[in-house]
Amino acid sequence: MIIKSADFTVSNTRISKLPPPILPEYAFIGRSNVGKSSLINMIVNVKGLAKTSQKPGKTQLINHFLINKEWYIVDLPGYGYAKSSKSNRAEWAKFIRFYLEKRESLQVVFVLIDSRLEPQKIDIEFCCSLGEKGIPFYLLFTKADKQGAVKSQQNMAQFKKELSEFFEEVPQMILTSAENQLGKDDVLALIHEINGN
Ligand code: GTP
Ligand code: MG
Repeated sequence: MIIKSADFTVSNTRISKLPPPILPEYAFIGRSNVGKSSLINMIVNVKGLAKTSQKPGKTQLINHFLINKEWYIVDLPGYGYAKSSKSNRAEWAKFIRFYLEKRESLQVVFVLIDSRLEPQKIDIEFCCSLGEKGIPFYLLFTKADKQGAVKSQQNMAQFKKELSEFFEEVPQMILTSAENQLGKDDVLALIHEINGN
């Protein structure tokens, strides 16, 4: 799929202010600082479209980006941001839960996992919560450029093993890097396949 245009549409914290649910959308979610915003920029080929930061907790709002005037990529705030207050986190969890469960135009969720780390409880639990709700998701492993291929493959295999205790069929996994475009074509092909055009 060729990206012809990528436009920021809206940022907000209110379900009622989201764009009308008439175009298919794909949400990117994962731990704070895992590389969601960077990966979105890499996939659509626009530096700075989604704001990135070395400090976790950069994306605090739900951001819609309109791609090719046909579908949306949605950048969500990261989970597990230790510095935000308990009430903030509870508020966030409620908002995201509502978005994930009720958004009728949401096609699939891309759950981002740091490829440098062994499986983290918070990520496994998040995947399980999606599974319980019947929300389809794929796993994108990030920051592959930061270590050797063997290490990434080991961590992915371990993640798959742990998830297979909860899932009959573990969702597809794609290794990515925002630095060197790894995984870009695979993610776009997947979206193309789901969009059916
Ligand atoms: P929050 O919005 O805070 O939840 O973070 P995020 O998940 O959107 O992460 P973001 O894209 O802001 O990236 C966090 C940091 O990781 C930044 O310093 C990025 O430059 C860096 N980063 C993200 N992806 C990659 C990657 O593939 N390779 C390398 N080397 N660094 C990356
Ligand atoms: Mg972000």
